[in-house]
Amino acid sequence: MKKRIVIIGGGPGGYVAAIRAAQLGAETHLVEAEHVGGTCLNIGCIPTKAILHTAELYHAVLNGALLGLKAEGLSVDWPAVMERKNTVVARLVRGVEGLLKANGVSVYRGRGRLNGRAVEISGDKPAVLEADAVILATGSEPVRLRFPGADLPGVIDSTAALSLPSIPGSLVIVGGGVIGVEFAAMYRAFGAAVTVVEMLPEILPPVDGEIAALVRGELAKLGVRFLTGARLQEIRSAAGGLAAVVNTGDAPQEITAQYVLVAVGRAPRIDGLGLEAAGIAVERGRIKVDDRFQTTIPGVYAIGDCNGQIMLAHAASAQGIAAVEHALGHSGNYLGHVIPACIYTSPEVAGVGLTEEAARSQGLEYKTGVFPLAGNGKALIESGGIGQVKIISGARHGEILGVHIFGPRATDLIGEAALAIRLEATVDELATTIHAHPTVSEAIGEAALAVTDAAIHWPPPRR
Ligand code: NAI
Repeated sequence: MKKRIVIIGGGPGGYVAAIRAAQLGAETHLVEAEHVGGTCLNIGCIPTKAILHTAELYHAVLNGALLGLKAEGLSVDWPAVMERKNTVVARLVRGVEGLLKANGVSVYRGRGRLNGRAVEISGDKPAVLEADAVILATGSEPVRLRFPGADLPGVIDSTAALSLPSIPGSLVIVGGGVIGVEFAAMYRAFGAAVTVVEMLPEILPPVDGEIAALVRGELAKLGVRFLTGARLQEIRSAAGGLAAVVNTGDAPQEITAQYVLVAVGRAPRIDGLGLEAAGIAVERGRIKVDDRFQTTIPGVYAIGDCNGQIMLAHAASAQGIAAVEHALGHSGNYLGHVIPACIYTSPEVAGVGLTEEAARSQGLEYKTGVFPLAGNGKALIESGGIGQVKIISGARHGEILGVHIFGPRATDLIGEAALAIRLEATVDELATTIHAHPTVSEAIGEAALAVTDAAIHWPPPRR
């Protein structure tokens, strides 16, 4: 008899899990309250990248004299930017709907709630489905800070920041994490005055510290103002918009802006799922899971942002596949130590494996190799040679522990590094892999050579 899998949540965790379950022969039901594709496709990764693409092109052409471009009367047609973003999203949502249908997945537009091993579904097709396995894939929502003025009009989250009526004249961003930095890059490129307020001493906390400092430096050159070691105290109404009062350790500073975007992290969305009644443990707001993503109740799994392990779309998809494979008696293969992370600034940031800080704090003996992109022809052509590739490898055997890139096409290049770590390759194997010329990927081979001070296109270090 076919096994029945019910999945609550249709984001990149849930819809991928559904397709995999159907491929493995299960009777598969997917419950989604809004649109399939979830946060990533509808109000996250995809719409941001659509707008960022226009922002990058606009900025490049506006400053195109160096490239030999003269553009007169260049302007941004904001409604058209929004329209294109919406078109890309709608097309991808239709694509996911089509894939679910083609795989025979039943989709319910409504909310799912656990009742023992059954799922009660409200919405367009109310039902109660007994299941062999339930996959919770309900995602996350922005953390709401409680501070005076949090409810004033103009205080927005990332969802609202994707659909502003026009390009803001000025923007304060609270939180210098991934969302804060991507929106800073986007709206600064369109000409807004942008201030980022970050409570830690450096932006982008999980990123390799050397790379985070380079990103901050480049964004500062473009005119983004950073206040690090700074906390938001309150927001007040002010002439022309809002005044953010920020404590930097000295006297509080007041920054006026049209909008204040709060991007201080996301929290698992777990309310209304019936977790407590079902006996499912929650720790610090996250659904507790084992290494198979099974909750404290066998047969109920929690994948993606709702288990709070790592809030990235591709991690959710991989966890979804691993969970349904386990539920259906297959041996899943989830490699949690090789998850690339990407940030879509211009140029881009991408990393996989250990940062130098992590290698140090784990007490590992390691070496680093850094290749500045000023020594790479293609990077020089595409973005003035800004950035670098940094490799961290084991001191004794040369195994690759981490790769961190700040430069053009970093988010695509990181795939090679992920595969290298997954295959337990050494720096020597990476260095002797022939990289095509002229490409930015040559810098990966050069960084591997730099571990032994043997980079070809960079002078040897002075002794
Ligand atoms: P985040 O955790 O990346 O960064 C939040 C930042 O806010 C941190 O730097 C933190 O120190 C700072 N912060 C916290 N409280 C603060 C306060 N009171 N005042 C000032 N600063 C404060 O969270 P973010 O950027 O909201 O992103 C949420 C999730 O979405 C992350 O897990 C991220 O990985 C994911 N995401 C991934 C993207 C990608 O892969 N390209 C793009 C956007 C989001």
